[in-house]
Amino acid sequence: MESVKKVEISTSGKVIESPCGPIIHGLEDVLIKVTSISDIDGRKGILWYRGYRIEDLAKYSNFEETAYLVLYGKLPTKSELSEFSEKLAANRDLPEEVYSIIRVLAENKVHPMLVLESPVSALAGFDPKAGDLSKDALYDQAIRLAAVFPTIIAAHYRFSRGLGIIRPRRDLSHSANFLYMMFGSIPDEVSTRAIDLYLVLHIDHEVPASTFATHVAISTWTDLYSAIVAGIAALKGPLHGGANEAAMKQYLEIGNPSNARPYVEKLLAEGKRLMGVGHRVYKTYDPRARIYKDLVKELSEKKGNMTYYQIAEEVEKVVLEKLAPKSLYPNIDFWSGIAMYLLGIPYEYYTPIFAMSRVVGWSAHAIEYLNEHRLFRPRACYVGPHDVQYVPIDQRK
Ligand code: CMC
Repeated sequence: MESVKKVEISTSGKVIESPCGPIIHGLEDVLIKVTSISDIDGRKGILWYRGYRIEDLAKYSNFEETAYLVLYGKLPTKSELSEFSEKLAANRDLPEEVYSIIRVLAENKVHPMLVLESPVSALAGFDPKAGDLSKDALYDQAIRLAAVFPTIIAAHYRFSRGLGIIRPRRDLSHSANFLYMMFGSIPDEVSTRAIDLYLVLHIDHEVPASTFATHVAISTWTDLYSAIVAGIAALKGPLHGGANEAAMKQYLEIGNPSNARPYVEKLLAEGKRLMGVGHRVYKTYDPRARIYKDLVKELSEKKGNMTYYQIAEEVEKVVLEKLAPKSLYPNIDFWSGIAMYLLGIPYEYYTPIFAMSRVVGWSAHAIEYLNEHRLFRPRACYVGPHDVQYVPIDQRK
């Protein structure tokens, strides 16, 4: 067991020279804090949560247990896990006013990622301890936030289709209850596992843009709800969340496994990007993708639809042949869109489901950052003029 971080981080981030000195563009590879939440070895393709390999958590754990691990830093005992799961289940429902906000936005066809921001900030108004940054209050809020994300997403799905909402059930797991609230029936085991494994694999990923946005917000001592809204806002952008949707659309366009090779070769010849391939940190096969691939195969067999799995396998062959030499490999999004598609989940919910998992990592990081807190306040190199003469409006040309 390694207790000290040994993963090397390259310092060759993109440096731009400016009159005030070097600028690390996009803060690439800049360290912002010490953390014990998650770690990535991008060269070897390893991801750890609190020191545990993602492969072990994928095999033995589930959303509830992994969420506990990420938030509290240790695996729970039986009684700790049942208390935590019970607390999550008890917090699933929303105030009627918050359902009304979702209804109005969903009926007006507002994208679910935008809609996610509104009920989360509105919920702060229903929490008398919203601004309390004590550990106890923050953990309560982190659990409440993780508990309500599936309810918000499912309510958007139902309202936007003119369907009545389905209230959460306390007797179902986090993942089974989500699918139940979406579609109105208790899901089969493999469908529940498809969501649950997706959530386990996305719970945290060190400091991508959305997690950094959460840090920036919480560094001002804002409330946790607002910091989570900052995370959602950053995740919404297509450079962060959203590639699994694009990858799935690619497979639909390919249509048939025999079309995969010519499609990919043409796309690469035109200098275009293959969605679900490449990663800023992983320079080898994304470990999450390796794990989720097996699940997608099992789900495809159970659903009696192997087409998209087979298309992706053919695409993967070309990627390993032509792009792997450039350190470009399939990432998690290469496979996950297929599972969402087979579950009957519309594209626009793929990124919200990512958020449904990552809210745990965002909260854990916000709580961790408050231990060694310092307000984020970088500087910019001003290159405009100074002391310009003010000209009254009627004298301007
Ligand atoms: N297909 C083809 N070529 C690619 C791809 C791709 N998907 N990604 C990068 N390249 C090429 C790129 O054209 C460039 O080539 P050259 O050096 O010849 O100009 C080289 O690889 C380096 O590209 P880059 O943009 O500097 O690399 P980056 O580290 O900034 O990109 C990335 C990372 C994820 C933005 C990029 O690989 C990409 O756009 N991938 C497709 C979108 C995608 O799948 N995103 C999901 C990421 S995983 C989500 C998560 O972890 O949560």
